[in-house]
Parts: sequence; C-alpha cells; structure tokens
Amino acid sequence: MSKILITYSTNSGSTAEVAAAIAAELNQAGHTAEVKPIAQAADLSAYDAVVIGAPMIFGWQAAARSFLKRHAAELAPKKVALFACAMRLTRVPAEPLPAVPLMLDPNLVSEPLKPGSLTLKERFTSLGYYLKPMLAAAPSVRPLSVAFFNGQLDMRRLKWWQAAFVMIVVQAVPGDYRDWEYIRAWAKAVGERL
Ligand SMILES: Cc1cc2nc3c(=O)[nH]c(=O)nc-3n(C[C@H](O)[C@H](O)[C@H](O)COP(=O)(O)O)c2cc1C
Repeated sequence: MSKILITYSTNSGSTAEVAAAIAAELNQAGHTAEVKPIAQAADLSAYDAVVIGAPMIFGWQAAARSFLKRHAAELAPKKVALFACAMRLTRVPAEPLPAVPLMLDPNLVSEPLKPGSLTLKERFTSLGYYLKPMLAAAPSVRPLSVAFFNGQLDMRRLKWWQAAFVMIVVQAVPGDYRDWEYIRAWAKAVGERL
C-alpha cells in the first residue's frame, strides 16, 4: 500500500472537491492518501505517488504546470497521475497526441463539426492543445494516467473577464457536470496500479 499525495489548484473551488473524492477512494482501497493545495505541497519526500489536479484555466492552470516543473526531478522516479477538470474537450480525428494513457469522461468529449476546419472554440479545447503543455512542463515525468473530468462552472464565482472568456471562447454552459462515479472509478484504477 502506498502513501499518496493528491495536490490540486483551483479557481472556484470545485477541483478541490474532486481531489477530496479521489483521496477518499484511495484511502478506502487501503492506501494512505492526503490532500493538499499546491501552495502547501512543498516536500514530496514522504510520498510514493503524487496525483496532481487542476482545472483548465487558459490551459491546465498555471500553478499545476509550475508545480510539475519545479518538482520534476523529485517526481520523475515516483508514480504520478494527472487530472484536469474542464467544460469542453474536442477530440479531433488524426490530431497527433503524446503517448500517455488517457481517461476521458465521455460526457465531456465532443467531436468537431468539420474536422478539416476547426472553429476557434474547437482549437482552444482540443485534446492535443490541452495535453501538450501539461506534459511539456516536466518531460522526465511519465504519468501512469492522465484524466479529463467534466467540471463545474459557476458564473457567480468568476471575475467578469473570466466569465467573458468562458462564454465567448469555450462557450461552456454553466452547471455542475462532475461525474463522481467516473472520478471514483479513475481513482480506483490508479490505486490498483500503485
Ligand atoms: C478563466 C477561465 C478559463 C477557462 N478555460 C477553459 C478552457 O479553456 N476549457 C475548458 O474546458 N474549461 C475552461 N474553463 C472552465 C473550468 O475549467 C471549469 O469550470 C472547472 O471545472 C473549474 O474548476 P474550479 O472550480 O476548480 O476552478 C475556464 C474557466 C475560467 C474561469
């Protein structure tokens, strides 16, 4: 059984609840999982495995990318899994993707209207567009799984310019789309590989 850190960043709070659900599932499976916001996760030496999660906020939120970059050397020999919460994910046929095991919430995924001529929204939400900077943050870290979960969008918690971006570019419909069963299933699958 492993000692696992689940560390996350969040803009509006919902990714923290996803991190807590993942920890609960891993603890139930017999591991020892702790949840910490990225700002409080400085020392990783005690952990066998690290799960890093963040929402898509102009890419995988910057705090998560900097965490990966900052701790790349420490994380490289450990088991690492990544997750992202998002409101839209476009799977573009034939889009070149990094070779990494993926779990995509099927209710999050949509197909482009015309695969040969992507709209702005489709380009900014394609799987490759999301994934490449996540992995490029620490090329020496090889995640055992990368998951994309359906997230939560609450316009009341956003600044006006954030709301404008989400409405105009992502074109997301506010609501809580988190699929707890899917999230727990991913946590269970990760736990079985630790
Ligand atoms: C400024 C901003 C930018 C966002 N950009 C994207 C995006 O590019 N793609 C996407 O699917 N969701 C995007 N979202 C939606 C969030 O990723 C989603 O609502 C997430 O679940 C929020 O998590 P949180 O409650 O932990 O902040 C954006 C939200 C905000 C506020």
